[in-house]
Amino acid sequence: MPLPPRAQIVGTGMFVPPDVYTNKDLEKMMDTSDEWIQQRSGIRERRYAKAGIGPSDLAFEASKSALAMAGLKSSDIDMIVFATLSPDYYFPGSGAFLQDHLGCGTIPAIDIRNQCSGFVYGLNVAQAFIASGLYKRVLLVGAECHSRALNFTTAGRDVSVLFGDGAGALVLVPSDDPERGVMSVHLHAEGAHRDLLKLETPAARNWPMVSKEDLDAGRQYPKMDGRNVFKHAVTRMPEVVREALTHNKLSADDVDLYLFHQANMRINEAVMKNLDQPITKSHNNMDRYGNCSAASIPMCLDEAVRGGRVKANDVVCMTAFGAGFMWGSALVRW
Ligand code: COA
Repeated sequence: MPLPPRAQIVGTGMFVPPDVYTNKDLEKMMDTSDEWIQQRSGIRERRYAKAGIGPSDLAFEASKSALAMAGLKSSDIDMIVFATLSPDYYFPGSGAFLQDHLGCGTIPAIDIRNQCSGFVYGLNVAQAFIASGLYKRVLLVGAECHSRALNFTTAGRDVSVLFGDGAGALVLVPSDDPERGVMSVHLHAEGAHRDLLKLETPAARNWPMVSKEDLDAGRQYPKMDGRNVFKHAVTRMPEVVREALTHNKLSADDVDLYLFHQANMRINEAVMKNLDQPITKSHNNMDRYGNCSAASIPMCLDEAVRGGRVKANDVVCMTAFGAGFMWGSALVRW
């Protein structure tokens, strides 16, 4: 029996809205400082989309770049996988918006709601579709408009300074070469920690989904126990990278490039230290874009590819951790 084909990434793209907000800009809105934000997180600035722009609009631009790199038209795509925690509407999913913007007939589109791990979860879905033969040209996007749900007062400063808006996109096709493409994806979740990082309303557990009391209490904004999230992230990320390496009989040294979720530079440095790898073997962009959740890794990947940091046959390791808790890793031979 022939092995199922690996999914190969043949196009990458990213897009961020033009409006830059520096740490100094945030200093004018809340009691924070450029020094605190840079020291604690490594973030210098981020982008916020204007009102009326949704994640699907950012995803549309990123998708056009990814399709151009792949040498494909939107009509060539036969499945859209859209990862976001900040969808255009509560429903329908942002995949429906993007499918319409791209004008790709009646192809299916699914939304992935796995927060900062949305990209690795989405990659597993895309890979499984291709391996099964169900779909042959899958567009995978991660896109976020976080700025809509951030509390820009001092009460929200622990979370609001960290997040930004952006989108990243990939085109995946069955690989002709059995050695190249997505080698593995390993995913985990530990729902017992769901309350350590959450945005509670609108919520279908409540009736009404959003009350005046909710709004007065700020439940429309994310809440995070930052220290606890940090502690779990620096444990789970190296653990799931090792799981991927062991599965593929590789060592940490065999990886050419590490791409992480972009929550906090201290987390990524701790993971590289744990793996005994120099930080120069990773590519990060949170200094310029902050945490773009599901978009973080595909945005880093696009920058790395276009910057010439990924060559044919290189091994790229991607890993993410976020709300849920949910986390995962992927290994790709380019
Ligand atoms: N500006 C200035 N001071 C701030 C601030 C801000 N934006 N946000 C919080 N502070 C204050 C706190 O009130 C606290 O003050 P106190 O000591 O008087 O109580 C102090 O800074 C330290 O806060 P703390 O939460 O202990 O900081 P930290 O070193 O843990 O860093 C995070 C905070 C959020 C940067 C860090 O915990 C983190 O990155 N966590 C993980 C995030 C993550 O991985 N997310 C992944 C999923 S998206």
